[in-house]
Amino acid sequence: MPARRNPFRPTAGATPPILVGRHGLLEQYAESIDDGPGAPWLLTLVTGARGVGKTVMLTELGDVARAKGWVVIDETATSGVMERIAAQADRHRSELGSPDRARVVGGSIGSVISIDLDTPERPVKSWRQRVGALLDVLAGHETGLVVTIDEIHGMDTGELAELAACVQHLIRDGRAISLVMAGLPSAVNDLLNGDVSTFLRRAERMQLDNVPLRMIADSLKEIFEDGGLRISEEDLAEAVAATQGYPFMIQLVGYHLWRRADDQGHLNHEAVTEGIEAARQRLGTMVIAAALADLSRMDRTVLSAMACTDGPSRTADIARAIGRDSKYVGVYRARLMAAGMIRPVGHGQVDFAMPYLREYLAGLVGLAD
Ligand SMILES: Nc1ncnc2c1ncn2[C@@H]1O[C@H](COP(=O)(O)OP(=O)(O)OP(=O)(O)O)[C@@H](O)[C@H]1O
Ligand SMILES: [Mg+2]
Repeated sequence: MPARRNPFRPTAGATPPILVGRHGLLEQYAESIDDGPGAPWLLTLVTGARGVGKTVMLTELGDVARAKGWVVIDETATSGVMERIAAQADRHRSELGSPDRARVVGGSIGSVISIDLDTPERPVKSWRQRVGALLDVLAGHETGLVVTIDEIHGMDTGELAELAACVQHLIRDGRAISLVMAGLPSAVNDLLNGDVSTFLRRAERMQLDNVPLRMIADSLKEIFEDGGLRISEEDLAEAVAATQGYPFMIQLVGYHLWRRADDQGHLNHEAVTEGIEAARQRLGTMVIAAALADLSRMDRTVLSAMACTDGPSRTADIARAIGRDSKYVGVYRARLMAAGMIRPVGHGQVDFAMPYLREYLAGLVGLAD
């Protein structure tokens, strides 16, 4: 029997075999693409905790637009992003053939001969002009341009302000452009609350959250059945519960169950238990440890203090636990929120924003230091 290819994708940014629980959002976006300039979701901010599926969502939104004939430029907000977008716009424009560019290709079989009649020296164009030139060509095809920018929280504020100003003008001119950006919620809020741009603050928000367990059950069932795998209802329910609704964990659990199926495609109870445990370990080493490694020692001390209790924490309690005052803890609380590790849960309390983070810190899951 040929080996079954494991369809699960437990890797940052990798498109999952089934995108669970996001169809409403994709439909909303598709509608805005159909409606064109002025439609609300063309300017969108995707936010959510680590591993909840922001990058994947950008890819999917891009695919929605691409399927409708739009051109998509995908970028990450590291330094120089504006120039990279403009360079890609130039490339698309020359590929599509621009109105101000005369190109003579010799002979039907002589496609080797290509004479470029472009004027050699043209003044340097601004970002808006370069992207605008692509939009002109696209308008001729009755389509538009989508720019997606990931990890927006890392964007240089100068570049962000420039981007906002340019896109605002293009939108005001009724051009078919969509800007979709993704980042961690608090960091995005901080960025937008600075005086970067009122325009970007008015973007539609797609706040991604964990997905309903019922939908995860349906998707796992479908993927297993398609692959000829058999699992009992009870074991499936256990696997679904182990994901806690967290998208990254859906892929980890699915992946580690799949590889434990026997030659007949049967997943017995022991295999399921082992698979879930392996998924938890991987979440610890890959996702949680990586996120913790980005933090300072004091950030981690605050998290550890939170892990000593079972539920949400009050700033005053954390302060008491680590022997500092509330003001001091407040600074770390803000930092940890911006990093997507914790989230406010009302009444001034905070809780962990990632599943198993508490268990990991308490030394119950994964490889705690
Ligand atoms: N809706 C979903 N259904 C199933 N799996 C998903 C879904 N969204 C994301 N995933 C899976 O979760 C993992 C993390 O997704 P992704 O990298 O997009 O998250 P992210 O929010 O961008 O994370 P980070 O904050 O670290 O950048 C990937 O393995 C992806 O396949
Ligand atoms: Mg991402």
